[in-house]
Amino acid sequence: MKIFLDTANLKQIKEAVSWGIVDGVTTNPTLCSREEESFEDLIKEICRIVSGPISVECVSSRADEIIKEARSLAKLADNVVVKIPIGIEGLKAIKALAQEGIKANTTLVFSPMQALLAAKAGARYVSPFVGRLDDVSHDGMDLVDQIVTIFNNYGFDTEVIVASIRHPLHIVETALIGADIATLPFAALEKMVKHPLTDIGIERFLKDWEKVKVK
Ligand code: G3P
Repeated sequence: MKIFLDTANLKQIKEAVSWGIVDGVTTNPTLCSREEESFEDLIKEICRIVSGPISVECVSSRADEIIKEARSLAKLADNVVVKIPIGIEGLKAIKALAQEGIKANTTLVFSPMQALLAAKAGARYVSPFVGRLDDVSHDGMDLVDQIVTIFNNYGFDTEVIVASIRHPLHIVETALIGADIATLPFAALEKMVKHPLTDIGIERFLKDWEKVKVK
């Protein structure tokens, strides 16, 4: 399973990269709005730090505008993937961009049919938002399961990015279902590493090590 970071914060990205486990980054307008740097500088720097795919969101509404915006975002760096919200205009843009070789991550996916249409249009990635579904009493991971089954049934090579992850259980379920990618807020990544029994174990070993007779 690939691990992407769901943040535009350079400090968090650099720290996670130093752990050796980051395969890519996803951003969105909300995440970018929290940072000080200008949008273009921020994206270029993220693309420099992480060599894997970096999702950058289009904010235009009409297909022709989305295509124009996507082309200019794709020029920022070779590893930019344009994030396009699912919709009729989005599908038209994804199709046209795929023909030009520009990779799209279809975002704000909340149903298996939206994911199927995105894959048929040529999206490189689809991003089901599990946490936001959980927030409205729908099991977000059921959606991931359905999308993975559908893509396997028909041999789509579109990759599934499990997004809007809130806690480590979402990540465990992502791996058990076999979705391609989990995109994580930095806090969720930290929670993956930690376990109180590990801390207690280290403390005990270090204490006992003091009693060991070393030459
Ligand atoms: O980047 C898209 C997604 O991961 C956003 O998550 O927490 O705003 O629902 P959230």
